[in-house]
Amino acid sequence: MKPIRVAMLGCGTVGREVVRLLHEQADELAARAGAPVQLAGVAVRRPHKHAELGDLVTADAPGLVTRDDVDVVVEVIGGIEPARTLLLEALKAGKSVVTANKALLAEDGAVLAEAADASGVDLYYEASVAGAIPLLRPLRESLAGDRITRVAGIVNGTTNFILSAMSASGSSYADALEEASRLGYAEADPSADVDGYDAASKAAILASLAFHTRVTAADVHCEGIRSVSAGDIAAAAEIGCVIKLLAICERVPADAGAPEAVSARVYPAMIPAAHPLASVHGAFNAVFVEAEAAGQLMFYGQGAGGAPTASAVLGDLVAVARNRVGGGRGPRDSAYASLPVRPMGAVQTRYHVSLEVADRAGVLAAIAGEFAHHGVSIAAVRQTGGGDGEPSARLVVVTHAAPEAALAATVGVLTGLDAVRAVDSVLRVEDLGREGVAG
Ligand code: NDP
Ligand code: HSE
Repeated sequence: MKPIRVAMLGCGTVGREVVRLLHEQADELAARAGAPVQLAGVAVRRPHKHAELGDLVTADAPGLVTRDDVDVVVEVIGGIEPARTLLLEALKAGKSVVTANKALLAEDGAVLAEAADASGVDLYYEASVAGAIPLLRPLRESLAGDRITRVAGIVNGTTNFILSAMSASGSSYADALEEASRLGYAEADPSADVDGYDAASKAAILASLAFHTRVTAADVHCEGIRSVSAGDIAAAAEIGCVIKLLAICERVPADAGAPEAVSARVYPAMIPAAHPLASVHGAFNAVFVEAEAAGQLMFYGQGAGGAPTASAVLGDLVAVARNRVGGGRGPRDSAYASLPVRPMGAVQTRYHVSLEVADRAGVLAAIAGEFAHHGVSIAAVRQTGGGDGEPSARLVVVTHAAPEAALAATVGVLTGLDAVRAVDSVLRVEDLGREGVAG
């Protein structure tokens, strides 16, 4: 059989594992793909650091992607440029593309998809979300006959590693981040992880596939974990919860004149300790998918790291090779639904608000009055401290579901109340389809 020739762009944490697996499993991959899958070249930034690649290595990525003897381009450089230009050139030249680049897909997925359509080639990107976990193909293919209502979960290994370490061993944020970078989980710039942008890119990709709508990273409300403190983790434990950085993509039904929409958001939230997502530790990822006919599905596995991510890249590569051997292309994404994105202010969740307040008569009533005034219903209130001559007490208010804008307005007013010394933290509380967060 004529071999399928592969140009690799990048040979770092992920790329070097792709090269290793391509060599170690050459015979089996050939048997599965229906033709040998061969490396035609590997483009990197600093060729002198990749002597092990011998003649395959080059610094000329633009030349490599359009070479006549290349059928497929695998991109594991990351970032927007030069990846975008290289992939558009490759697609234009009729090469199929496999990429792990969520940042690029979440910004310019539509442009890449159009270029793939124009040339009649494949664009696959399973590795871009949740590392080794087969998730995008089930959303695109297995659930194509169902109506997905929610995709939610832990999609960033670095932040889950950090939050797990802070919660389990009291490890400092800085030490845990350093260890995640050493293990190859973190992005080249780890602020993409800790500020939530990596998870937001993944949320955009998930929402696009699940709801047949183009959602970009700019549509995703995004908050990271920098402000999560040891106090927040302890406060979560007090109500039987743990804190996880969640990506939540939901279909929002039409309501009060507003059309059906999608919501995509990323933030740290309290979830019940008994929820399956609470026991996802370290760099593992887990994603809940809810669909009208299928009900709840859970996908779990290694969400970051060289070998797990290379597994997903290789899966795509075999799929592309099979399509090439068979003379066709695989299933494409669709964006026919074009649902609007619901603004964050209109999104409803529950909240845990921790306040330092003056401990005197009437304070609780004044605070409860502000929640009521803004239409935010309180589920539980707990006071600790105060009494015995202590001037202030800690008050925790857990609410029922309320619009983000109403909660923000309430907190704005509370901050200005004479009796409120400080609003220490505001964290969202998510049941994720399983009732039972303690009040
Ligand atoms: P690395 O930083 O480890 O590797 C990047 C590679 O790209 C290096 O080999 C680098 O070359 C090469 N490179 C950088 N700039 C250029 C350029 N201008 N031209 C040619 N080559 C270039 O990244 P990762 O392997 O960690 O990540 C790669 C992609 O995979 C990213 O999109 C990332 O988001 C994604 N991903 C990563 C996961 C992980 O766990 N690490 C998990 C899932 C997805 P040189 O070696 O010479 O510096
Ligand atoms: N930096 C990412 C993470 C890599 O920590 O999850 C996987 O996409």
